[in-house]
Amino acid sequence: MKGIVLAGGAGSRLYPLTQVASKQLQPVYDKPMVYYPLTVLIAAGISQICLISTPHDLPRFQQLLGDGNQWGISIEYREQERPAGIAQAFLIAESFIGNDNVTLILGDNIFLGGDAFPRALSEFRSGASIFAYHVNDPQRYGVVEFDAQGQAISLEEKPTQPRSNFAVPGVYLYDNEVVEMARQLKPSIRGELEITDINKDYLNRGKLRVIRMSRGSVWLDSGTSSSLHDASAYVQTIEKRQGVKLGCPEEAALHRGFMTPQQFVSLVNTMPCCEYRDYLQSISGSQFFG
Ligand code: G1P
Repeated sequence: MKGIVLAGGAGSRLYPLTQVASKQLQPVYDKPMVYYPLTVLIAAGISQICLISTPHDLPRFQQLLGDGNQWGISIEYREQERPAGIAQAFLIAESFIGNDNVTLILGDNIFLGGDAFPRALSEFRSGASIFAYHVNDPQRYGVVEFDAQGQAISLEEKPTQPRSNFAVPGVYLYDNEVVEMARQLKPSIRGELEITDINKDYLNRGKLRVIRMSRGSVWLDSGTSSSLHDASAYVQTIEKRQGVKLGCPEEAALHRGFMTPQQFVSLVNTMPCCEYRDYLQSISGSQFFG
């Protein structure tokens, strides 16, 4: 399974923050937003990752994340010249995907806790697997409707009259068919290749699995100043309470065995003195180094 992080868009709702650094580079408490979705992929065992962003922002992501070698993974980069929809990611990253299955995660979606994604990944064979999350304001998202047996029966993108409160979060697992499906897709009225249209295609073919995320699991939005602040406050609360960090790619890479303990220590030694380094150093004293 390969992984794509889509970190494009103008981030206009966060202006003036996004005049210089894109939305996915903004801090969510103590780290850049993009660390969170990246950590979701790494923690689930995905080590071949492609990051897609605008020509303007791509160099900054490259500066931040490099080629991934420091974490024992590989990160490739591709440009999305103009925002033509989430599903365009499969066309842009076609050569990266090759003949593999692919997970797409949006660079501004924050998932914390819960094992829905790693479990879905280990169970994935073919077709598509997406998630459903109960929200207060479904009209802002893709919305999935279930029948009495819990089977998904419809999907709509940002409906004014949502048929349920179940939003579709921005993490999607697909088999390799998705590339051809994206190629056949017609742009929507707003001129975009919609991810919801891809999911509808899988639904119509009877190949869509929709997994409801449990109550306790957390999916946060960070696209407005207020939701960005809420996400930061949430991360701070949990990190303070538990003494662990969330969205920490180094830690996930170590746990997954992508880095050896020795590589981990060498990397930590290159970091300036800061809370982040102190945290990683504290992990060095844990079971991995016993
Ligand atoms: C996109 C998708 C939508 C999905 C959402 C998750 O919306 O189009 O279906 O529910 O991401 O964040 P957008 O980012 O365009 O608002």
